[in-house]
Amino acid sequence: MKASVYIATSLDGFIARANGGLDWLPGVESEDNSGEDYGYHAFMDSVDYLVMGRNTFDIVLGFGGEWHYGEKRIVVLSSRPVEIPERIADTVEWMSGTPREIVEQLAERGAQHLYVDGGVTIQRFLNEGLLQQLIITRIPVLIGDGIPLFGPLPHDIKLRHVETQSYANGMVQSRYLIDG
Ligand SMILES: NC(=O)c1ccc[n+]([C@@H]2O[C@H](COP(=O)([O-])OP(=O)(O)OC[C@H]3O[C@@H](n4cnc5c(N)ncnc54)[C@H](OP(=O)(O)O)[C@@H]3O)[C@@H](O)[C@H]2O)c1
Repeated sequence: MKASVYIATSLDGFIARANGGLDWLPGVESEDNSGEDYGYHAFMDSVDYLVMGRNTFDIVLGFGGEWHYGEKRIVVLSSRPVEIPERIADTVEWMSGTPREIVEQLAERGAQHLYVDGGVTIQRFLNEGLLQQLIITRIPVLIGDGIPLFGPLPHDIKLRHVETQSYANGMVQSRYLIDG
């Protein structure tokens, strides 16, 4: 079982504005990317569960309209019960527990690869040594303040750089592995 992060950040390391705003993040459908998906669909095809924090779930639900995750199984983490709209209840479920308990529970179901999403959630998994891969796409913008991707750590975490790809629109995607 492995767990990965696939996330976009501003060059100054934020994943959203303080109010959750993502307006600085070019959409996959934006005009300047010529249909490029930055490896998103290939990555999504490789994971069997997306584990996201409640805040990220609230933002995704707030987009309204079409559900972007298709039939992908989603686990929403919260210490309090999460109300799941009926239309997505077949694929979305709420779980609570330490990152290790979540990983163990999903491993028991046969999960091979988890996609972990949301700033606080990523930091908790990272702190417990439960992430093996980080794919970070840096957007060429400074937003000055917001929700950070990373935070305090109990100790340094060394990363192994695997590859970096730059795109014509200035986005830079790096893939790192976390050993042991
Ligand atoms: N730039 C990007 O690519 C990208 C990607 C994803 C998200 N985002 C943005 O990031 C923001 C959300 O990030 P965030 O750091 O605020 O939070 P988050 O990680 O999405 O959610 C944090 C919440 O998840 C719950 N949680 C996390 N781990 C848990 C665990 N092990 N057990 C129980 N509950 C757990 C807690 O909810 P309770 O407080 O309810 O217990 C916690 O307050 C949103 O604005 C979203 O749009 C951006």
